Amino acid sequence: MKVIPKKAFRFYFFAFVVTGALVFGALQIKQPVITNPPVTGDIQAPAEVKVILRRACYDCHSNETNLRWYDKIAPVSWKVAAHIKRGRELMNFSEWNKLAPVDQKAKLWECLNQINAGAMPVKDYETVHTSSKVSEQDLNTLKNYLNTITGITPMDTAKLNARDKQYELLKNRATAITSLPKALNGVEFIPDYKNWQAISTTERFDNGTMRVIFGNEVAVKAIKDHQINPWPKGTVFAKVAWDQVVDNNGNITTGAFKQVEFMIKDKEKFVSTHGWGFARFKTPKLVPYGKTVMFTNECINCHRPLSDNDFVFTQPIKN
Ligand code: HEC
Ligand code: HEC
Repeated sequence: MKVIPKKAFRFYFFAFVVTGALVFGALQIKQPVITNPPVTGDIQAPAEVKVILRRACYDCHSNETNLRWYDKIAPVSWKVAAHIKRGRELMNFSEWNKLAPVDQKAKLWECLNQINAGAMPVKDYETVHTSSKVSEQDLNTLKNYLNTITGITPMDTAKLNARDKQYELLKNRATAITSLPKALNGVEFIPDYKNWQAISTTERFDNGTMRVIFGNEVAVKAIKDHQINPWPKGTVFAKVAWDQVVDNNGNITTGAFKQVEFMIKDKEKFVSTHGWGFARFKTPKLVPYGKTVMFTNECINCHRPLSDNDFVFTQPIKN
C-alpha cells in the first residue's frame, strides 16, 4: 500500500475540513421556514392526556411546534420541516374540531396503534428529543381515555339484531359462493383463511369491533424461523372483524361479521404498494372495498409508519 507523505496528508485533511465547513455554512443560509398557524380547534381532553400529546406529538401534529436550536441546523432542519409538514397534513391536534366525533375516535385509536407498534413518535426524533418517549403508563392513560369516550353499550339491540339477521341469512343461503370476488387491484378473496392459524387478536374499542389475524403456512413458518422482517414471499395475513357484543355482565362475544382484509407478500407483483397486495371484502356478501384501484393508498398510508417492520403491525408472540 502506498503511504501518503505526512505533509500531503496534513494538506488534504486541512482542505477537507475547510470545504466541509464552507458547505456546512452555505447550507445554513437557505433554511426551511416553519411557522405556527393559529390554533383553531385544539383537542379537548383531560389534562393528563394533553400533557402526553403535547410532549410527544405536538411538534409535528399541531400548530404549536416548538423547535429547539438543534432542530434549526441544516441538513437536520430540512428533515424536521418535512416531518412537520407531513405530520400536520395527516393529523393536526390544533384543528381537531374539523373532524367528526367518530373520526376523532378513529384517529386516537390509530395513535395508540402507532405508539404501540413503536412507529410514533418518529424514531430519529425520539432519539434526540428524549422527553418525547411514551411510557407504558402514558400508553395506559391514553387507552383509558379512549375507553371512557367510546361508551360501549351492554346488550346493544342494534348489534344483537344485526347478528341475528345475518345468522338467518347464512342459514337460509341455498348454495355456497361459486365464483370468488376480486378486489380492484386483482387480489382475489381466499376462502381458506378460516383454516389458518390465528396469530393475534385485537379489539378496536373506538368502534366496538373485535378482530382476529390469521397467518397462512408461510407466515407461521416464518414466525417459527424468526424470519419476519422482511416477511418471505407468499406470506398472507387475513384480518377478520366482527361486531363486539357485550352482555350485562361485561362478557364479550362476537356479533355480526363485518369484513375480512388480506395482505399478500410478493415484492415483484405488488411493487407500487411496498411488496404487499392489499384487499378488503365487506359484509357476508364479500363486497370488494374501494371505488378505484387507488383504495390501496388508504391501506398504505396507515401501514407506512411501520416501514421498519415491513409494513406489518402484528407482532407475533416471540419465543
Ligand atoms: C418528528 C415528527 C413527529 C412526531 C413527534 C410524531 N409524529 Fe406522527 N407522524 C409523523 C409523520 C412524518 C407521519 C407520516 C409517516 C409516514 O407517512 O411515513 C406521521 C404519521 C402519524 C400517524 C398516521 C396518520 C395517518 O392518518 O395516516 C399517526 C396516527 C401519528 N403519526 C401519531 C403520532 C402520535 C400519537 C405521536 C406522539 C406520540 C406522533 N405521531 C409524533 C411525524 C411525527
Ligand atoms: C386507520 C389505519 C389503518 C388503515 C386505513 C388500514 N389498516 Fe390494516 N391495520 C391497521 C392496524 C392498527 C392493524 C393491526 C391490527 C389491529 O389492531 O386491528 C392492521 C392490520 C392489518 C392486517 C394484519 C397484518 C398486520 O399488519 O398486522 C391486514 C391484513 C390489514 N391490516 C389489511 C389492511 C387493508 C387491506 C387495508 C386497506 C383496505 C388496511 N389494512 C387499512 C391499521 C389500518
